[in-house]
Amino acid sequence: MLLGSGELGKEFVIAAKRLGQTVIAVDRYAGAPAMQVADAFEVINMLDGDALDRIVEKHRPDLIVPEIEAIRTERFYDYEKAGIRVVPSAKAANYTMNRKAIRDLAAKELGLKTANYRYATSFDELKAAVAQVGIPCVVKPLMSSSGKGQSTVKAEADIEKAWQIAADKGRGDVAEVIVEAFVPFVSEITLLTVTQMDGPTLFCAPIGHRQERGDYQESWQPVLLPDGFLEQAQEMADKVTRALGGAGIFGVEFFITREGVVFSELSPRPHDTGMVTLAGTQNFNEFELHCRAVLGLPIPEIRQERPGASAVVLSSIDTMHPVYTGLEKVCAHPRADIKLFGKEEARQYRRMGVVVLNAEPGADVLALQKEARQLADLIEVKVPK
Ligand SMILES: Nc1ncnc2c1ncn2[C@@H]1O[C@H](COP(=O)(O)OP(=O)(O)OP(=O)(O)O)[C@@H](O)[C@H]1O
Ligand SMILES: [Mg+2]
Repeated sequence: MLLGSGELGKEFVIAAKRLGQTVIAVDRYAGAPAMQVADAFEVINMLDGDALDRIVEKHRPDLIVPEIEAIRTERFYDYEKAGIRVVPSAKAANYTMNRKAIRDLAAKELGLKTANYRYATSFDELKAAVAQVGIPCVVKPLMSSSGKGQSTVKAEADIEKAWQIAADKGRGDVAEVIVEAFVPFVSEITLLTVTQMDGPTLFCAPIGHRQERGDYQESWQPVLLPDGFLEQAQEMADKVTRALGGAGIFGVEFFITREGVVFSELSPRPHDTGMVTLAGTQNFNEFELHCRAVLGLPIPEIRQERPGASAVVLSSIDTMHPVYTGLEKVCAHPRADIKLFGKEEARQYRRMGVVVLNAEPGADVLALQKEARQLADLIEVKVPK
């Protein structure tokens, strides 16, 4: 049972179907990308614990595979007790849906290097927290993703606005925010980390990415890091995934600074920046790796085969049943491919597809990133005739 049926879920279902699995795809609306390739689907509000209980009871899945954070994950502990395997573990899904749980685990319990941070539950507490952390800083609701409700405080006058933005956009039951010192990073990476039931933890080559409005725009793999930095990131990823338990792929996010590597956050599931692996950069893409790991099939090694890049196709309009132009131009490129997610509704900035591109081993990956961006820009999302 897949909880969340977006584009990442869709690729996971494709990988699972190739291994003969039966998949029930769940989301809050019908026709979601993963539902289009699954065996059956359910439409519920996944933050509603009783609705979750109902479909789990109805289908009695062997495995629950979360694809998003906004799920009543407390129920996962009950499912685990009842003998259903939650991927990668109930604890991993529950801790990562709340920034406080995962940040305190990483920084306090495990001693990973993170940005200095404080929490606040009111405007007055926020002012005090900003004073402690210092300006500039980033304010985020504890329960949110894709940059929703997030803002950067660059001057004291921004604090009130930051509180408003966070209060309006948070997803959870409590209006609580985390205030993080702004990390003056040189770049950001995702380290896809695979934990196995019966085998060593494996790492994909690091993925570089660029964010805008809280969403990734392009990603590329592999990214070259200064000496010793990859080892720092791998050690932190190993610690935090070990503490969360279970088997599956994790997208562990780091800031790369001049001084070293700073842990940011992680997803206990395939990561959107990891769509670059759909370019054939590795012997298995991130969805195939997740699928093998959750089924308990061995993964002897992850091999980087060639460099690749991905660039997202965003809509600039709101429409039902969008059509796409420019596909033939992307497909004319001998090393490019496009995935369209099949979303029935386009909205401004909604991710509708992704262009992936690869090159011969040794090619310049940053040139590849630029080329992927140019190709993605050739695609236009239009109102149907
Ligand atoms: N402390 C920080 N210093 C500098 N930049 C930051 C900081 N926190 C967040 N950002 C920027 O905002 C982006 C999104 O932040 P973060 O990953 O915490 O949010 P999110 O809502 O969980 O996003 P997603 O779900 O897309 O990963 C980061 O990738 C980074 O570019
Ligand atoms: Mg993030």
